[in-house]
Amino acid sequence: MGNFFDLHSHMLCRVDDGASSEEEMYEMLDRSYADGVRGLCLTPHFSPSMFDDTRESSEKSFALLKAYAAEKYPDLELFLGNELGYYDGCQRALEAGICRTMAGSRYVLVDFPEYVEFITLRSGLGLLQRSGYKVILAHAERYRCLYRQIDWIRSFVAAGGIIQLNASSVEGGWGNGAKRQWKKLMRLGLAHIISTDAHNLTTRPPELSICMNYLKLHCTEEEISLLTWENAWRVTRDMAI
Ligand SMILES: [Fe+2]
Repeated sequence: MGNFFDLHSHMLCRVDDGASSEEEMYEMLDRSYADGVRGLCLTPHFSPSMFDDTRESSEKSFALLKAYAAEKYPDLELFLGNELGYYDGCQRALEAGICRTMAGSRYVLVDFPEYVEFITLRSGLGLLQRSGYKVILAHAERYRCLYRQIDWIRSFVAAGGIIQLNASSVEGGWGNGAKRQWKKLMRLGLAHIISTDAHNLTTRPPELSICMNYLKLHCTEEEISLLTWENAWRVTRDMAI
């Protein structure tokens, strides 16, 4: 198994709808490491209307996980970020440092509801980009409104937008539409980063290797390395992709 960098995960316990106990969090990390992950960014949801203020709880869990990893997996690097559930005025939370960017960089991981209207998604991402953030669109294959908006996706990427895909979508984890869109984005060279978006050990496990069959058939070694390691690594160093 190759070396992976998982940039999107909900492993921190008792923070959002991710790991529900310390044991589950540690077991998720064990699974992730066994899968080949050597760089990991924890990205609890930042959605005040759903999860209240999670700064304290996420920092506490992150400290526990770091201590566990330092003891057991000294070659594993851990970072902290957030997955910002877009809402009107959310850039104020970023500016105030209430919502985290990715590992303190200018990159922000942003998500929307699956059935968001195109106009809402487009204006939200544009606004964050104009505010000076490097926007990573979380699980870009899942938004219905983007199935027929490949030209807009091209322009988003040309303006510096980053496309993150969930590894499990290529095996149908998010339905046939998302699976088709995942492959289309890959085929057109519009994808930058593949992550797990892991939430638990059962229905949404930390399994980045699930997409490797596809990648080995359709991508060069260099492309695989960019998608599963290099680009995510660059995000945590605030380097250009
Ligand atoms: Fe997520």
